[in-house]
Amino acid sequence: MEQQEAKKVIFSGIQPSGELTIGNYLGALKNWVKLQDEYDCYFCIVDLHAITVRQVPKDLRRRTLEVLSIYIAAGIDPEKNTLFIQSHVPAHSELGWLLNCNTYMGELSRMTQYKDKSQRYGNNIAAGLFNYPVLMAADILLYQTDLVPVGVDQKQHLELSRDIAERFNNAYSPTFKIPDPYIPKAGAKIMDLQEPTKKMSKSSDNANSYILIMDPPEVIRKKISRAVTDSIGVVKYSDEQLGVKNLITILSVITGKTPEDIEKEYEGQGYAQFKKDVAEAIVSELEPIQKKVKELLSDKTYLESIYKNGTEKANYVANKTLRKVQKKMGFIPKK
Ligand code: TRP
Repeated sequence: MEQQEAKKVIFSGIQPSGELTIGNYLGALKNWVKLQDEYDCYFCIVDLHAITVRQVPKDLRRRTLEVLSIYIAAGIDPEKNTLFIQSHVPAHSELGWLLNCNTYMGELSRMTQYKDKSQRYGNNIAAGLFNYPVLMAADILLYQTDLVPVGVDQKQHLELSRDIAERFNNAYSPTFKIPDPYIPKAGAKIMDLQEPTKKMSKSSDNANSYILIMDPPEVIRKKISRAVTDSIGVVKYSDEQLGVKNLITILSVITGKTPEDIEKEYEGQGYAQFKKDVAEAIVSELEPIQKKVKELLSDKTYLESIYKNGTEKANYVANKTLRKVQKKMGFIPKK
């Protein structure tokens, strides 16, 4: 027990706003699995974040449980980690508001993700999309988080979380732990299969751009065979061959081989066999996960017991921080 208290706290989350891709799996989930023994981990399904863009209610419901199932199927042990659904812990929304009043419009206007998205959605952009990094700060700060595993696209939001925390601590008194980014040793950023200069994203319009964790084997094989390469014809881990480089990354993360090993293995060969092997590696990695996800989704009672448990622990810790914040800001305790 004592040892558990000494463990550093990790918080991360995935939005249930679309189907998860192998980018989520290889870039995030697979690393989270490695953290669970060393850290006290909170892995959240951030459904409140998902609604910054309008969701079809029945899809949101289905995906929320699917993401939870994927967490577990990927190897995140619900006994060792706190797995929960963000909207089940009201402190996230509550602290979100309090922190909104401690965040400047200028700071939020500088967020590059907001700038990109507001260009894409024009005038029909929800205020929530502007405020979303503050909710993310609340997520992280509620648990006195030490480390946040995030990709580069979220680094700016994490820096904002740190700024908000520091400002609050200075204005009132030390309340929040200042979180650091956690950059995994073997960080993998999986790129779009059609435009390998972009990160693989579930929101791409072209289904050949990404592989979903739940894609059937024949779909995976087809998408990999169509993945963009180049006319150089050499399997090389090089910035001149971003398509091939991405496929090497995928193969390397799945098999544990280094990119150099892979280059050597395919020396003197074109892309045909290489692509076949990449596809088979993905298929055999995902098959057991897909099977487990389907099993889990058919056992709603089990899933319910997992998120109820997680919520209980998360609520307890989050409320402790929220009460402190409320008290320091001058709110009358409920008693
Ligand atoms: N904003 C993150 C994303 O879009 C998801 C997220 C929400 C998150 N809250 C978080 C990630 C807290 C890490 C920590 O990917």
